[in-house]
Amino acid sequence: MAGLADCHSISDLKDRAKRRLPRAVFDFIEGGAEDEVSMRANESGFGHYELIPRTLVDVSRVNLATEVMGQRIELPLILSPTGLSRTFHFQGERAVAPAAARMGTIYSLSTASSVSIEDIGALTDGPKWFQIYVWRDRDLVKDLIERARGAGYHALCLTVDVQMMGKRERDLRNGLSVQPKLTPRLLLDAARRPGWWFNLLRSPPLQMANVVGKIPGADDGLSTAAQFVDSQFDRSVTWDDAEWMIRQWNGPFAIKGILTAEDARRCVDIGATGVIVSNHGGRQLDHVPAPIEVLPEIVDAVDGRADVILDGGVRRGSDILKALALGAKACMAGRPYLYGLAAGGEAGVDRALAVLRDEVERNLILMGVPDVAELGPRHVRRIEERGGFPSNR
Ligand SMILES: Cc1cc2nc3c(=O)[nH]c(=O)nc-3n(C[C@H](O)[C@H](O)[C@H](O)COP(=O)(O)O)c2cc1C
Repeated sequence: MAGLADCHSISDLKDRAKRRLPRAVFDFIEGGAEDEVSMRANESGFGHYELIPRTLVDVSRVNLATEVMGQRIELPLILSPTGLSRTFHFQGERAVAPAAARMGTIYSLSTASSVSIEDIGALTDGPKWFQIYVWRDRDLVKDLIERARGAGYHALCLTVDVQMMGKRERDLRNGLSVQPKLTPRLLLDAARRPGWWFNLLRSPPLQMANVVGKIPGADDGLSTAAQFVDSQFDRSVTWDDAEWMIRQWNGPFAIKGILTAEDARRCVDIGATGVIVSNHGGRQLDHVPAPIEVLPEIVDAVDGRADVILDGGVRRGSDILKALALGAKACMAGRPYLYGLAAGGEAGVDRALAVLRDEVERNLILMGVPDVAELGPRHVRRIEERGGFPSNR
């Protein structure tokens, strides 16, 4: 089996992750909602743009650093929040956060993480965001906010596209739902990956670490916690609640899950300092646009009043450069670093970030652009009329 050093692209890391994980666990990372149309469009949408290079420019030194919501990052790529990362490798979030810090970029910890706010806070001095929802129990929400503040998180990231869970059919077929079922298929599948089981079983039980001890009258087991979290999604949440949360936090605040210019404007009006253009990696509502498709109109609407960040479908450095040329301040990615985590723990996440960093730098040099801040509309062209690049994505 090829080692990490043989993984030269995010796609190579994905192949390695697939070989190491039980099928159901790989599907849990990989899957999207219903027919996975939006999930595929997130990646293929980048193929609708081509890069326009300049020649004979001195690119002996290039700058990849930028600033997002007042924080300097060395690479315009932020690690998206992903729940229960210890499912993919026994170290989970404990492997991801230090790798992000080494790269000099932001790690966003999910509310549904398998390592707690405080443990990650104490583990690294790297820049960190905490991802949150407006749950039914507002006291619990306030408690999470104060815990994030106390543990030194720089910003909050409010996810607004989970009124309820999307219909992820791979998980349903695999018996992975809010109440996991040990189906014969799941057991057989798991038996083929003894290494993954060995590591999982010799590490502490998988938990929703941020709600441990917070579920009234119940144990802290994963199944109970998952049902509790599911019951906390509140369909009555509105802009007033988001505004309430911005006031509670009183600091850098991004809203994740925005797909229209109108909603982006509203985010800024209620005081958000970041707008994350995202469809949750195609895992929530299917048939919504890919972030790259709506990015230009959202950049236009926000008009510099907040940082616009693109989340979803980024698999190449060139994807990041296209998003920046269309006006994003930075990108976010989830699956790319999870492939790395599953492929090789902390070293695998390092590898995923190094691959993307190398591609950003190399492509910037080849485009004749010495600084990411100089990327603009002249470096990118839509090629819709020709039906996009012939592409394997
Ligand atoms: C396994 C997995 C778990 C996720 N968990 C969360 C989560 O807890 N909170 C959240 O806001 N987004 C979550 N997301 C969505 C990511 O933050 C991000 O929007 C998505 O992965 C971007 O698409 P990409 O995977 O193509 O980069 C999750 C995504 C994946 C793949």
